[in-house]
Amino acid sequence: VLSLVVLISGGGSNLRALLEAAADAEFPARVVAVGSDTDAPGLAHAEEFGVPSFSVAPTSFGSRDEWGAELLAQVRRWSPDLVVCAGFMRILPPVVVSALSPALINTHPALLPAFPGAHAVRDALAAGVQTTGVTVHVIDEGVDTGPVIVQREVRVEPGDTEAELHERIKTVERELLVQAVLDIANGHVDLKETAAR
Ligand code: GAR
Repeated sequence: VLSLVVLISGGGSNLRALLEAAADAEFPARVVAVGSDTDAPGLAHAEEFGVPSFSVAPTSFGSRDEWGAELLAQVRRWSPDLVVCAGFMRILPPVVVSALSPALINTHPALLPAFPGAHAVRDALAAGVQTTGVTVHVIDEGVDTGPVIVQREVRVEPGDTEAELHERIKTVERELLVQAVLDIANGHVDLKETAAR
């Protein structure tokens, strides 16, 4: 069974999808802890499922590297097989990436390399594309540049607001993330191979 630490910053609907999937004894992964950079509302999902959580706020540290070192220490307490960034809205410092990658993945609400960064849905709307989507990828030292594990398209509908489009993307995203974790857990996806591409 693959043990997961999930990192979040927001509402945690992707985290919840993983917690719900893992509640099935047949699912080959378990969420052992949830971490955040803030007092994220999504931490309530961890509590509901009886999963421990921790929060490491960058404001308590003198530098990004010191923050990263503490975040890494908190993650390592749980010895996870895989760390999943699911709406974690901060760039991980190199000290964290080099320690955990390639067993460090992210889900992003666009078809990378299109629309990296914190406003992917807004940027896709502003660009006027007809199709955007979701990418689950290995985190490397860049921002949303790591090797792609899986992608799925989502159509932009005429008149879509950012919130409407993001909600449709997230409906697809939750399913795709659970499937990606399943594929990693059962060996259909090899992260070392993915990262070497
Ligand atoms: C998700 O759509 C995730 O891809 C996005 O934040 C949302 C979190 O939703 N992440 C990024 O934009 C990272 N650049 P959730 O808190 O309901 O899971």
